[in-house]
Amino acid sequence: MTAKDSMTIRRPDDWHVHLRDGALLAGVAPHTARQFARAIVMPNLSPPMTDSAGVAAYRNRIMAALPTGSDFTPLMTLYLTDRTDPDEVARGHAAGVFVAAKLYPAHATTGSAHGVTDIAKIMPVLARMEAIGMPLLIHGEVTDNHVDIFDREAVFIERTLIPLVKALPGLRIVFEHITTTEAVQFVESAGANLAATITPQHLHINRNAMLVGGIRPHAYCLPVAKREHHRLALRKVATSGSAQFFLGTDSAPHDKRLKEAACGCAGIFNAPFALESYLAVFEQEGALDKFEGFASEHGPRFYRLPLNEGTVTLERSGVTVPDEIDVCDAIVVPFHAGETLGWRLRV
Ligand code: NCD
Ligand code: ZN
Repeated sequence: MTAKDSMTIRRPDDWHVHLRDGALLAGVAPHTARQFARAIVMPNLSPPMTDSAGVAAYRNRIMAALPTGSDFTPLMTLYLTDRTDPDEVARGHAAGVFVAAKLYPAHATTGSAHGVTDIAKIMPVLARMEAIGMPLLIHGEVTDNHVDIFDREAVFIERTLIPLVKALPGLRIVFEHITTTEAVQFVESAGANLAATITPQHLHINRNAMLVGGIRPHAYCLPVAKREHHRLALRKVATSGSAQFFLGTDSAPHDKRLKEAACGCAGIFNAPFALESYLAVFEQEGALDKFEGFASEHGPRFYRLPLNEGTVTLERSGVTVPDEIDVCDAIVVPFHAGETLGWRLRV
């Protein structure tokens, strides 16, 4: 095979994934473990992972759900609430139970009902995280009913992130699954303590994918896809080589009946073909040489973790994404269902 027909990169990681629990966990975890060496596992279970013991037990369930022989490493996170104790956070982090904590504004998204109602309530926790260098992962949307859903990320930057960065300039923050030009500009201007993850869907689709020609629940996730100019800004920065931006799929499976409903839930299941999906974007942007940094280097450097040893190879042989995927407890419609992507991960 010539170099043009395949691409070999250092093993990548997924810096934002929902592995779920129970039977669904057993069905979805192998998809992430097949593609990635490590992943930041989100804590928005029911009930949420709000203490060290719960996180440690969840980690054991993930390990038990992996295929025999898998060397996948889950990187765990703590779910912040109004009542989170700074000492518990510091202890669990020092003990290696979790590498980061996740801030969900209460009621912003799936599984966020126990989230933080007012960031002022957790300032002692955030100050402690700043002191110990522990990353804060943020779902950056306001939940104010008066704010249009397409503006919620931009308003969150103004109301919450700018004051937070000013109050705690040493706090290391990952602005998760960014979707707007405003977020790109904010992260770039904030400097090296700020980083952002970018999902495959926000690089591929704008809001038309959800709404044109019929309402398409499988293109619905939170934060929702925005206008085309936002998508173009995300593609530009993801493929720019900037170390502040890295891969985070936000793969979030829901049974198709729960999405194809009068009130369908938010989340796109992209784990099975995540690398193929991202690589299509880098190829379209003429930036194949920037893919390894985005997928395998910028994330671990921000988290101050070693880069993975070993490599993965993608071949230009094409892969057709199935219409549906059976994940034990559920039938899930994956991102790119029915489409053919130009590259395939060699396994
Ligand atoms: C996520 C989920 O289903 O857990 N959904 C989503 O649309 N991304 C939650 C989240 O990350 O917002
Ligand atoms: Zn998520």
